[in-house]
Amino acid sequence: MVTAFDLKLVGGTVHLPGGPVRTDIGVRGGRIAAIGATGDAGETIDCTGLDILPGVIDTQVHFREPGLTHKEDLESGSRAAVLGGVTAVFEMPNTKPNTDSAAAIEHKLARARHRMWCDHAFYVGATNLNAAELAELERLPGTAGVKIFMGASTGDLLVSEDSNLARVLASGHRRVAIHAEDEARMNARTGERVPGDASSHPVWRDDESALLATRRILALARAAKRRIHVLHVTTPAELELLGQNKDIATCEVTPQHLTLAGEEAYPRLGTLAQMNPPIRSGAHRDGLWHWLGQGVPDILGSDHAPHTLEEKAKSYPDSPSGMPGVQTMLPLMLNHVAEGRTTLARVIDLTSAGPQRVFGIIGKGRIAVGYDADFSVVDLKARWTIEESWLASRSGWSPFTGMTLTGRPIGTIVRGRRVMWDGALADMAIGEPIRFEAIEFG
Ligand code: DOR
Repeated sequence: MVTAFDLKLVGGTVHLPGGPVRTDIGVRGGRIAAIGATGDAGETIDCTGLDILPGVIDTQVHFREPGLTHKEDLESGSRAAVLGGVTAVFEMPNTKPNTDSAAAIEHKLARARHRMWCDHAFYVGATNLNAAELAELERLPGTAGVKIFMGASTGDLLVSEDSNLARVLASGHRRVAIHAEDEARMNARTGERVPGDASSHPVWRDDESALLATRRILALARAAKRRIHVLHVTTPAELELLGQNKDIATCEVTPQHLTLAGEEAYPRLGTLAQMNPPIRSGAHRDGLWHWLGQGVPDILGSDHAPHTLEEKAKSYPDSPSGMPGVQTMLPLMLNHVAEGRTTLARVIDLTSAGPQRVFGIIGKGRIAVGYDADFSVVDLKARWTIEESWLASRSGWSPFTGMTLTGRPIGTIVRGRRVMWDGALADMAIGEPIRFEAIEFG
């Protein structure tokens, strides 16, 4: 018998570009074939009582493969992603070796095949040596674009001086992702670090370190006529500035900077709360929410940056910076919606439509006929507690363990395949490289 659809999602509230509608979705060949679908289907999923969001795209994760796979790998990181309702990820280049050449990108793509649970793209890391090649490297299939570390963080990727930053920005056309912390200022301030006290982390890597770097990269980007995307913004002052430069700059905030306040987080979590740029004060967190309400952040990224508990147990400042987050990003944001800090429509804007618009992703970020059938199916009313046993990251911990939330991912559907439902995984990892307009049509 020939059926109209391979898959139908029935009875759910579907978050279409125009808003939520109670309707059925028909999927054929991995793409959305009909909204308000009436024909029969090979498989039908009952979504009664559930909300169907466009697939969540996390544009900042560190999955540590190759070289640091005791912390995470492409399989475990992407498994955490789909358990948390994420359908696609952009993975960062500070692996070992760094992802700074065509061979390294090809290597990651090969390792991802049949092992990654969600769709994926890999950033290429800018160095002082590969600037001339970046124009070519950013056009390799499966590449998310170029990433610059202006300040040193985990690993040794670093382009800190204006002359080298200008060379990187002059090479290529796609939007460049930026870690904006000023290396010279931080080097001059290492005396601010208090041994054994992670709460001194935001004193060392202070507001001015972030603002200075963001100011510098905005000026350099304007001079180079190059678009930039400033990652994990932590200060209200930067968001105000970025709001005045929307013609060339987009930006990201993270769920952890929107959720944790240093006054509470450092005494409770110690070095587990240590990341770059740092968790800052409650007033900073409130300021990020203010600018989120003003529409300035374009994207929400998890900056999933796992380290083992053993590594994190080193005394500050020998402890590494970063915390896992890909699995908890959507749950935390659903809880913020339930508690009235933002709307579900804004979360969708930040996790689906935003990534599509900022990075020119082909066929994702929207529930519409012809788009990939990527869906994050959620129960907005479920009350549950984040348990360690639920976490898939090899690092095995989360700063949010023990937190009780309202709103839970129930299903993750990637190109029409149910990869996660109710905490159970499919029997095959079917992630594929993400396609970009700049590569295929640029
Ligand atoms: O805290 C961080 N950890 N910030 C970064 O920029 C890198 C990341 C990591 O890779 O551990």
